[in-house]
Amino acid sequence: MNSSEEEALREKVLDAFKVVCICNKIKKGTIERAIAQGAKTVGEIKRATRAGTGPCGAKRGGVTRCAPVLREILAKAKAVKPQP
Ligand code: FES
Repeated sequence: MNSSEEEALREKVLDAFKVVCICNKIKKGTIERAIAQGAKTVGEIKRATRAGTGPCGAKRGGVTRCAPVLREILAKAKAVKPQP
């Protein structure tokens, strides 16, 4: 593994540990794993991980802080998913 591959791997690992849902302390890697295991909608991600089910939705007029990030991660995963 050369230095650029090591740097890419390091960035990928650090990215996976970023907290997406502050309320429930759910990391980006957990969201990506749920998608890899078959979650196809934000609702399925919520059920699989509890991301987006915290109390901020009620405090912020029914809009969770992490919901847009969940949608973004899901859209990226669908965009790079290999076609059968
Ligand atoms: S930040 Fe995810 S539900 Fe509040």
